[in-house]
Amino acid sequence: MRISIIVAMDENGGIGFENHLPWHLPEDLKRFNRLTMGHHLILGRKTYQSIGRVLPGRRMIVMTRNPDTQYAGVDVVPSLEAAINLAESRGDDEVFIGGGSEVYRSVLPITDRIYLTRVHAQTQADVFFPEFDPSEWIEISSEQLGADEKNQYPTTYTILERVCAKHVRG
Ligand SMILES: NC(=O)c1ccc[n+]([C@@H]2O[C@H](COP(=O)([O-])OP(=O)(O)OC[C@H]3O[C@@H](n4cnc5c(N)ncnc54)[C@H](OP(=O)(O)O)[C@@H]3O)[C@@H](O)[C@H]2O)c1
Repeated sequence: MRISIIVAMDENGGIGFENHLPWHLPEDLKRFNRLTMGHHLILGRKTYQSIGRVLPGRRMIVMTRNPDTQYAGVDVVPSLEAAINLAESRGDDEVFIGGGSEVYRSVLPITDRIYLTRVHAQTQADVFFPEFDPSEWIEISSEQLGADEKNQYPTTYTILERVCAKHVRG
């Protein structure tokens, strides 16, 4: 099973502000929906609360350390390992990690692919994507999109694949 991060970040690596996305980019949300549809989507508890609802067509797995947490219509798990094992046990061929920052940090060493939207702006952000070594990744596709009346900033959609051995799971 491929482990894929999906993330949008600004020019400083900013990904969120006050538990929301710092931009309005409906094209990016469409891409997110298209890519994740039919797959498992793993989220940290804060990101799930920020989205605030079950996304149709995806099996959502929410990570929390609080054993009392429950959300209707999603699986709640106590660790990244439990989240990935659940997606794998159900036969998914690609699991998507949808953030946020804390979850990206822990999954990065075992990630195969990053669907990265570069937002060409410097936004006000209070959470950031973790530092990563560009030499470990190769860009397999890239597509630019300008800003328009609906999409606040220009973006570049890229897909990065790991070129070196990833850390072994388990
Ligand atoms: N630009 C993007 O693509 C993008 C994508 C996603 C999110 N975001 C933004 O990122 C921000 C949220 O990120 P965040 O880092 O603050 O929070 P987060 O990663 O969404 O959630 C953190 C919470 O997840 C749980 N958690 C994390 N790691 C865990 C682990 N290893 N085991 C068990 N539970 C674990 C904990 O929940 P408990 O506290 O309940 O134990 C932790 O407090 C928001 O601003 C959001 O809008 C941006």
